[in-house]
Amino acid sequence: MSAAIKETHFQFPGQIGFYKGKVRDVYIFEDKLAVVASDRISAFDVVLPRAIPHKGQVLNQIAAKFLQATAAIVPNWVTSVPHPQVTVGKKCEPFKVEMVIRGYLAGHAAREYKAGKRTLCGVALPDGLRENDKLPQPIITPTTKASEGHDEDISKEEILAKGIVSPEDYAVLEKYTHALFEKGSQMALEKGLILVDTKYEFGKYGDEILLIDEIHTPDSSRYFYAEGYEALQEAGLPQKQLSKEFVRQWLIQNGFQGKEGQSVPNMPDDFVNQISERYIELYEKITGDKFVKSANNDLEKSIETAILNQL
Ligand SMILES: Nc1ncnc2c1ncn2[C@@H]1O[C@H](COP(=O)(O)OP(=O)(O)O)[C@@H](O)[C@H]1O
Ligand SMILES: [Mg+2]
Repeated sequence: MSAAIKETHFQFPGQIGFYKGKVRDVYIFEDKLAVVASDRISAFDVVLPRAIPHKGQVLNQIAAKFLQATAAIVPNWVTSVPHPQVTVGKKCEPFKVEMVIRGYLAGHAAREYKAGKRTLCGVALPDGLRENDKLPQPIITPTTKASEGHDEDISKEEILAKGIVSPEDYAVLEKYTHALFEKGSQMALEKGLILVDTKYEFGKYGDEILLIDEIHTPDSSRYFYAEGYEALQEAGLPQKQLSKEFVRQWLIQNGFQGKEGQSVPNMPDDFVNQISERYIELYEKITGDKFVKSANNDLEKSIETAILNQL
């Protein structure tokens, strides 16, 4: 099996902090961040026990591609991508919301709708929709950015009432979110994909609002295959998804749904390899580029060197 980075423990000159996210290791400097996309995988907000070879590279390179492609529309935090698994950029003060945007009734939104809800995060939904139907227009359904536990739905009204984001800033976040989703949807369609839903994070760098984090990756987005979409909808069948949904399915079949008291089942080698292959497939489908595995004789060393060169 190929090498995989489960966690990193570097110490860089000028480093003033470290944050271990579910998937990424964030090295904090005075005004910049070096973010290492590890090979960890999370599902149901839990980090799974095994790392997935090449997953970090897949994520980092998809995000890099889309951040670059949207930079003219929405300014973002990236200053360089010095290694297939590393992005370096501006350290921002993150807004405490995630801007989720949905073009279709899928996932969490579909579950809420099925349970009878006709408003989601303060947004009214029409009657008569089926799961995975296209929405009349894309809707923003924000969530809180919880420092622990699950993110929760919140409405624009509540965000403003609680002063989580100022009205002026929120207007910009909305405008940016729609513009990014439109561009992402268009780029997806060029590859025969539907960008179903995704989420964006933003932060402030001085007075400037920047797009931060990763975008349009299979970890932050849901894609369907465009071909056959209509036929499957008409037949009332599930859509072909391009996401880590199959990992969640495997976990559910093995008795894990992220609920308290449940433990993550053992992941055998061939399942780990299968996830790795699926991520590479995702990469090639989403970007249209051939995936070139980064040489892994000493992955950690190469990451450390790449970051050192950016300081
Ligand atoms: N430019 C940035 N400035 C500040 N924070 C950022 C920036 N880019 C990403 N982040 C934060 O870094 C973290 C990335 O690690 P991730 O594995 O996604 O962690 P989490 O488990 O918190 O989602 C996220 O919390 C994200 O909000
Ligand atoms: Mg995250």
